[in-house]
Amino acid sequence: MNIRQFRYGDSNLAYLVFSGSQAAAIDGGAADEILGFVEDNSLELKYVLNTHEHWDHIPGNGRLLKESEAEFISPSKLCEMEYLSLAAEELKIFPTPGHTDDSIVFGFDDCLITGDTLFNGTVGNCYTKDYENYFSSLCRILEFPPETRIFAGHDLVDYALAVAAEIDPENASIADYAAGYSADFVVSTLAMELAVNPFIRFGDSSLDNFRNGLEMPLGTPYRRWRAMMSVH
Ligand SMILES: [Fe+2]
Repeated sequence: MNIRQFRYGDSNLAYLVFSGSQAAAIDGGAADEILGFVEDNSLELKYVLNTHEHWDHIPGNGRLLKESEAEFISPSKLCEMEYLSLAAEELKIFPTPGHTDDSIVFGFDDCLITGDTLFNGTVGNCYTKDYENYFSSLCRILEFPPETRIFAGHDLVDYALAVAAEIDPENASIADYAAGYSADFVVSTLAMELAVNPFIRFGDSSLDNFRNGLEMPLGTPYRRWRAMMSVH
């Protein structure tokens, strides 16, 4: 499977994934660029998809659907499916409720498209207030191999690294992460996230000093994560 990333809005990231001649747009807010790429590469836009239905992730849907024969499948419908086919390959679907009830992560090869569930350097807001569900969703993502590449719904890297440095000022990996950042193609790996992202490092004792200052219960991984989310 191939992946192209497009920027739109303040920080949003859109994706086109394709195999053979079949493509799916995910959070395709950069509709004109996506349609241009589809045409230039003689692709068939088969699906228009979203990681969740927040307003800033869906603005390209109308134009993409008007200009193609693509099928729209809503995130809540996708939650009932295991995968979609693109040519001979599978675009896997993992429901990851927490940011919203309909949040989805898409997976293929060594890639996850994580929407607003996991960003490069931080995590999303828990708008559902169902923190246990959100924690389970993040745990599910963390079961993937460390080399898994993370493609998020927004580029928040500058902000995220500033927060990470405030929480964990001695962490040398933050500078490495910043050195590897490019606005032209925003991606990290799970291994990089586990070295830097304070909101998924709930098994990492090097954050204990900071967490102890939060005066919240810290006895389990969930509690350590929940405490950290109080400063998110
Ligand atoms: Fe969102």
